[in-house]
Amino acid sequence: MSKVTMEKIVSLCKRRGFVYQSSEIYGGLSGAWDYGPLGVELKNRIRDFWWKEMTQLHDNIVGLDAAIMMHPKVWEASGHIANFSDPMVDCRKCNSRFRADHINLEAACPVCGNKDTFTEPREFNLMFSTHLGPVKDEASVVYLRPETAQGIFVNFKNVTQTCRVKIPFGIAQVGKAFRNEVTTKNFIFRTCEFEQMEMQFFVKPGDEDEWFSYWKQSRIDYYDTLGINKEKLRFHEHGPKELAHYAKEAFDIEFEFPMGWQELEGIHSRTDFDLNKHQEFTGKDQKYMDPQTNERYVPYVVETSAGLTRSVLMVLSDAYEEEELEGGDTRVVMHFHPALAPVTVAVLPLVKKDGIADLAHEIEKELRNDFTTFYDQSGAIGRRYRRMDEIGTPFCITVDYESKDDKTVTVRFRDSMKQIRVPIAELAQRIRSEIKEYSRA
Ligand code: GAP
Repeated sequence: MSKVTMEKIVSLCKRRGFVYQSSEIYGGLSGAWDYGPLGVELKNRIRDFWWKEMTQLHDNIVGLDAAIMMHPKVWEASGHIANFSDPMVDCRKCNSRFRADHINLEAACPVCGNKDTFTEPREFNLMFSTHLGPVKDEASVVYLRPETAQGIFVNFKNVTQTCRVKIPFGIAQVGKAFRNEVTTKNFIFRTCEFEQMEMQFFVKPGDEDEWFSYWKQSRIDYYDTLGINKEKLRFHEHGPKELAHYAKEAFDIEFEFPMGWQELEGIHSRTDFDLNKHQEFTGKDQKYMDPQTNERYVPYVVETSAGLTRSVLMVLSDAYEEEELEGGDTRVVMHFHPALAPVTVAVLPLVKKDGIADLAHEIEKELRNDFTTFYDQSGAIGRRYRRMDEIGTPFCITVDYESKDDKTVTVRFRDSMKQIRVPIAELAQRIRSEIKEYSRA
């Protein structure tokens, strides 16, 4: 099996309409990417999977969708204006810019190869700012949120006062976040515009360590349900120098991307830092009243923070395989979990004539109610299977002459390439149970 490289993934994404460079016809914009027809399906499915896991499968987590732009004081209170920066250095020779903590400052410049050319590290705030309203002065400055979490914190009181939630409970949110990253590279791994899936879990002070352990385990187990290879996931504990300004303890879940082990998700014990700060800056009480004990306290928070767009890259990297077949042939196959695959079922008539295509159309129309389907009648059947393998379609249904007589079709499975005959009347049920029971060999 040949190695999965980022180049291969980028090439497949472009070729098959998963991800395109932003504003490509203008020469592209670094740090931004557009999700094509298949990419948006994949991203939405990953988002929906997370949303279901967090809100539907927990009876104590509710959802929220806060605005991207927030009152500028939010970012003062949260510490992002003072602390949300990366150290940056420039090479005086070739003007390349680097994160000072990502390179060896004693070594030669990785771009031009010259030594002793780096500037002193400078702190660079990662927040994008703009102006709200027609007047561009200091009073109109607003920021594009660098994390979705603050939208949750500032709505803590709204949620406790309007919904019947009791501590411990969580608020989940998915949405865009923006960071003016010093260096953007590795495709959609680190971008200036990206999406996060965050959940803030509010607990009684003193209970945070127990909940931190719970969420650490729960979040790594979740990737199993997505069908991700367990061996490519591990924890990384933050040392004192790595901890964000709000965290008392933090673990990353790392994934082995084609360029190496990198952060996929963070689990952070944020204490009462954020709610206390908002209480201090607004003068508005952020305490929770325990209905059983009548105790009043500012809750502690355990956060789970995953990148949605980074998860897309994880799913693509984990799914990609160049498989050698018998007879010296090879195929590119994306082993997406069937619940994530952009197209679930392809319907392929073996021939167009004698009513076979009509029957295939009928079957495809029927299946549309339950699955994302794709109809393809052009080219040799082997070529059509390969096209579907490359976009990770788990089930191909072939309609042939026999189908007209005995009302059965061939179902071909993407991973094993095995084929079985299934009655047309049982197709939807069969596919549903295959999705439910799927496990990657
Ligand atoms: N609220 C906490 C927080 O934002 P973070 O570790 O800075 O924590 C959480 O970010 C997750 O967001 C990361 O694990 C990563 O998946 C994603 N993420 C962060 N910066 C990103 C970027 N520039 N591009 C893509 N994803 C990013």
